[in-house]
Amino acid sequence: MSTEQTFIAIKPDGVQRGLVGPIISRFESRGYKLVAIKLMTASKEHLENHYSDLAGKPFFPGLIAYMGSGPICAMVWEGREVVKMGRAMLGATNPLASAPGTIRGDYCIDVGRNICHGSDSVDAAKKEIALWFKPEEVQSWKPAQFDWVY
Ligand code: PPS
Repeated sequence: MSTEQTFIAIKPDGVQRGLVGPIISRFESRGYKLVAIKLMTASKEHLENHYSDLAGKPFFPGLIAYMGSGPICAMVWEGREVVKMGRAMLGATNPLASAPGTIRGDYCIDVGRNICHGSDSVDAAKKEIALWFKPEEVQSWKPAQFDWVY
């Protein structure tokens, strides 16, 4: 199986609304593997680096302020085509364009409070994982034989 990885973040509004569990559950249920996770309140500099491609956009200052307003749940998920499927599971960037059944389509309505982020390409995922995690924070693991279940 491919070992493709993606960076998924639950933004401050998603954390504060108690959506960490439901979002993790969707990825686990789909069959993806969680290989890194932490809560982190990101600095302005860190967020400007993460969103450097958007520096000229009118919403950039608001986006940085929103993303720095509280803890983010940063994660790395692994599995077959997880970059593309992760984006599909999150739904369209604008929640009003997100289909019901997607995470944004079920939980939000405002593009400025769209509760989650997912890498948009394999290259972006590599850069984002390297920005948010030290190599030793990303675990490589395989399920055991369930011999602890009696
Ligand atoms: S763009 O303009 O097409 O480059 O932007 P887009 O690819 O749609 O979105 C890039 C990220 O910017 C966020 N975004 C916004 N934040 C706040 N307010 C507004 N109006 C807004 N529009 C876009 C969007 O959520 C994307 O961030 P991530 O973290 O990937 O969701």
